[in-house]
Amino acid sequence: MGFKLGILGLGTVGCGTVQLLLDSDGRHPLLEEIEIYRVGVRSLDKPREVKLPPGVITTDLETIVNDPEIDIVVEVMGGLEPARELMLKAIRNGKHVVTANKAVISRFGEELYTAANQAGVYVMLEASVGGGIPVIQPLKQSLSVNRIQAVTGIINGTTNYILTRMQSEGSSFDSVLADAQNLGYAEADPTADVEGLDAADKIAILASIAFDGGIRREDVYCEGIRQVSKTDISYAQKLGFVIKLLAIAKKLIKYPYL
Ligand SMILES: NC(=O)c1ccc[n+]([C@@H]2O[C@H](COP(=O)([O-])OP(=O)(O)OC[C@H]3O[C@@H](n4cnc5c(N)ncnc54)[C@H](OP(=O)(O)O)[C@@H]3O)[C@@H](O)[C@H]2O)c1
Repeated sequence: MGFKLGILGLGTVGCGTVQLLLDSDGRHPLLEEIEIYRVGVRSLDKPREVKLPPGVITTDLETIVNDPEIDIVVEVMGGLEPARELMLKAIRNGKHVVTANKAVISRFGEELYTAANQAGVYVMLEASVGGGIPVIQPLKQSLSVNRIQAVTGIINGTTNYILTRMQSEGSSFDSVLADAQNLGYAEADPTADVEGLDAADKIAILASIAFDGGIRREDVYCEGIRQVSKTDISYAQKLGFVIKLLAIAKKLIKYPYL
């Protein structure tokens, strides 16, 4: 039996996903059982990096999440709405959901998981945090045996690239940012990365998994790197430090066994 996929979005991540699914050569045979049945986009006229059969791409994303033929909805469109609403509809229609959307998961994760539990379907979100690492599945698997007290890490590639170059070349934030944008490492609007918002979304998700839910995204303190100057970097260096954008979640309640 094969599985029919409805993909919401055909941008950077959507195209990568489609390319991977269409190139099953040398990969697991299960991949051949997955059919890209519908792909939802905003504009039909946009040139795409992938070629799909006529009729697969549509601008009507509602029909994808309501289509009884579709087993799994892959949400790679980004943004809060209509991504959240479409995922909820897919779940209520009995479809498994795979998402890369850290913004929705960090704010509305509980709502989606509750709906998924009621519908008896999965919400898979590995790609929402460090998609290439991976981190979510190992974290979930370790929950039963470990007593996790803290989750800490560098979880934003763009800011790490900028800070590393500022450190190694003595360059200014603005010049490295401009370079990163030219190279495609930073978005045209870099706010989510350089203000720490992307990292805050990700640590809210990791902390919610590690500490059994209940982490509200709006409670995550957030500070970016825009104000980091060459002087800061060189002072840090003189003192034997490097400046990094760290995401830190710590449990404040002490267990009696500690
Ligand atoms: N880019 C990364 O490296 C990366 C890594 C990990 C996770 N993510 C996450 O993956 C998700 C997608 O990111 P991306 O970089 O692939 O975004 P993107 O390149 O901007 O692609 C978004 C896609 O969704 C479609 N779309 C957006 N809003 C829509 C709407 N209202 N109706 C119909 N189609 C809509 C767009 O259609 P058109 O093409 O017609 O405009 C586009 O194909 C985001 O949640 C992001 O946070 C991204």
